[in-house]
Amino acid sequence: MKGISKSFHGIHANRDINLHVESGEILGLLGENGAGKTTLMNILYGLYQPEAGSIEINGRPINIKSPMESIRHGIGMVHQHFMLIQNHSVIENIALGYKDTPFFFPKIKIRERVKEFSRQFDFKVDLNQKVWQLSAGEQQRIEIIKALLNGADLLILDEPTSVLTPQEIKELIDILRKMKAQGHMIIFISHKLDEIMDICDRVTVLRKGEIVGHAHTRDTDKKSLARMMVGRDVVFNISREKLAPGGQVLNVDNIHVTGDKGMPAVRGVSFDLYENEIFGIAGVAGNGQRELAEAITGIRKIDSGKVHVRGREITNLSPRKIYDNGVSHVPEERIRFGIAPGLFLYDNAILKQHHLKKFSRRYFLKYGQVKNHAKTIIRDFKVSTHSIDNQIRNLSGGNIQKLILGREISEQPQLLVASHPTYGLDVGATEFLRQHLLELRKKGSTVLLFSEDLEEIFELCDRVAVIFDGEFMGILNSDDPGLCDIGLMMAGSKRLEPKDRAS
Ligand SMILES: Nc1ncnc2c1ncn2[C@@H]1O[C@H](COP(=O)(O)OP(=O)(O)OP(=O)(O)O)[C@@H](O)[C@H]1O
Ligand SMILES: [Mg+2]
Repeated sequence: MKGISKSFHGIHANRDINLHVESGEILGLLGENGAGKTTLMNILYGLYQPEAGSIEINGRPINIKSPMESIRHGIGMVHQHFMLIQNHSVIENIALGYKDTPFFFPKIKIRERVKEFSRQFDFKVDLNQKVWQLSAGEQQRIEIIKALLNGADLLILDEPTSVLTPQEIKELIDILRKMKAQGHMIIFISHKLDEIMDICDRVTVLRKGEIVGHAHTRDTDKKSLARMMVGRDVVFNISREKLAPGGQVLNVDNIHVTGDKGMPAVRGVSFDLYENEIFGIAGVAGNGQRELAEAITGIRKIDSGKVHVRGREITNLSPRKIYDNGVSHVPEERIRFGIAPGLFLYDNAILKQHHLKKFSRRYFLKYGQVKNHAKTIIRDFKVSTHSIDNQIRNLSGGNIQKLILGREISEQPQLLVASHPTYGLDVGATEFLRQHLLELRKKGSTVLLFSEDLEEIFELCDRVAVIFDGEFMGILNSDDPGLCDIGLMMAGSKRLEPKDRAS
């Protein structure tokens, strides 16, 4: 890519960008939320037309006017937010995007080719399942297969790991390494610097739409990359002052919840949360975390057991009533459940809060107040947008996340239920969010934090519960020597009593 520029509403999303990738190479693309990574890749994939610049493959200038053409030139893309059709089966989704799909549905041919790739790269896929039944990692594998079937020599992955479990990330990385060994080119976008250092050969860093640096991963480190991205030093380890827990905020008493597939997902979980504390739930994804968060916040039915907030029962109340009881929620799939994409930014800034007195009078919204509120969130959470009269779908992925976080936590909730709050945030925004959670804790709030990132858990939490197969394997204080067994607990062993632990 040579001299690529693109602007929206007079603001440059990309300015004079030069980028190259060689065969058998993995190039990392780094940059803060809104730096222009997705835009640049959408140009390469033919979704946007650049205002200036050119694209060459093997030294030959090419003109990419649509994704169809980029696919013909051997370019494939897995988008930041999956684009599979949820109600169709896997094979139907693959056929829909298959460039050689003739008038009649060539299921047999597709099945054969998918089998071939599964063997080659160690994929596991069930072609007959419906997409909504798949985990994020499985959906992503389908997207990669789609690109490979179309003969992609160059595969673009836009934040492929931000919604995956650590195990799924490992599997993905294995697949990418095999592709690299076969001479494929890969452009890999991620905010996780460890990952970039691990699998990329080179990195290019964008800031505010311009390239600010290149580096070979073997000659650089995490700290320098972060500095290049943000333009200042980033604190990777923040300190948490000791606070005595205050009064009880949440009481969960022996709840049972059923999962999507009709099986028990939460099986008899009990715990209490207090003011001034961050309580972490650690565990491998799919062990009941999502169902537990949804049950407490009113999105999913509780089959038996009770939940109280400050002594008031909230079991199976509506999400809005639970919100009115001081419980905020940052859901796991924020883009799907957290926003209304076609609405303006300021409407999205008050979802679930539109009925509050300060935002509405009878049936009418007080737009002045609503817009001021949106502006405050944008300022405090550094949401990058050219104006608040912008549809939220035009924001970059990370900036959408920041707006949702701002909406849910700016009001000082009594209890914040946060599922993977740092997914999709750049290093600077992650640092800011962690500080903010500690700030809430200091002011007396309680945070229930679901995270698979043990580093994040250790850094923020006063106590940690480990969940496995819908049950708590134990609850540990942050200074408990048993924390070293947390890996075992995540794999299903109950907490060892000190006397049983080998010293
Ligand atoms: N269709 C669009 N209309 C208006 N503005 C857009 C559009 N697409 C992108 N932008 C703007 O271009 C800028 C760059 O966005 P982009 O999505 O490329 O960022 P990004 O680097 O991928 O960020 P993130 O890490 O958050 O995904 C942002 O300010 C965004 O609001
Ligand atoms: Mg992006």
